[in-house]
Amino acid sequence: MKTMNQDIQTTNSLSMNHVIKYYQDGQSKIEVLKDVSLSVKPGEFAAIVGPSGAGKSTLLSIAGALLTPSEGRITLAGQEVTELSAKARTQLRQKEIGFIFQNSELIPYLTVEDQLRYVTKLAKLKVSDQDIVNLLDHLGLRHRLDNLPGQLSGGERQRVAIARAFINDPAIILADEPTASLDSTRGRQVVEMLAQETHTNHKAAIMVTHDERVLDLVDKIYEIEDGKLTLR
Ligand SMILES: Nc1ncnc2c1ncn2[C@@H]1O[C@H](COP(=O)(O)OP(=O)(O)OP(=O)(O)O)[C@@H](O)[C@H]1O
Ligand SMILES: [Mg+2]
Repeated sequence: MKTMNQDIQTTNSLSMNHVIKYYQDGQSKIEVLKDVSLSVKPGEFAAIVGPSGAGKSTLLSIAGALLTPSEGRITLAGQEVTELSAKARTQLRQKEIGFIFQNSELIPYLTVEDQLRYVTKLAKLKVSDQDIVNLLDHLGLRHRLDNLPGQLSGGERQRVAIARAFINDPAIILADEPTASLDSTRGRQVVEMLAQETHTNHKAAIMVTHDERVLDLVDKIYEIEDGKLTLR
């Protein structure tokens, strides 16, 4: 696995500066993010909470360079995203960001082991078979290596999604309601795994959640309402 870049340690892994996002709705513009700024350092686990439609997923998509802002700057792992070509942006995303979505979004016809191989191949990274097995073992999935997503429980699928987000050793982890499809015990376990990975391996993580009961596990809580972000 690749090693942490030393200067990332001292600066923010992710920062959004004065980000505005609007969508065009016929003649009018709907402003979904209103001058949003935030930064997350290596080893820091931030949560974003807020009502449905507040702009949480939009914010996370922009933070992960999946969506471009209307205005403002995004810096990821030391690179200014808005200055990159589309190709360079995709490469940065594949190498430096691990995404976890609400419904795991696994590829139905790939085994657990191959889900991980697939993302390392996309990022053109070399990860050994042993690294893959070790990570799956660490997440309690060793006996599931050869299973397809359809053969797993919701909690197991979400742990595979976590393994897939971690396998490339990205600097940044972005999770959009990772516990929404789980019961409270399994949900808490998932957030504990995210917290452990963030703190032990110096990731910068943002988790969008509706679940107030897991907020004791994060370092920083942001609230978003009607596109405006504040620190709780
Ligand atoms: N592609 C789009 N075009 C137009 N409007 C959009 C688009 N995507 C999102 N929106 C609007 O932007 C607002 C914020 O959406 P977003 O998905 O970020 O909310 P959210 O906070 O993640 O909500 P939820 O908790 O329900 O997931 C909503 O009003 C939504 O309708
Ligand atoms: Mg959402």
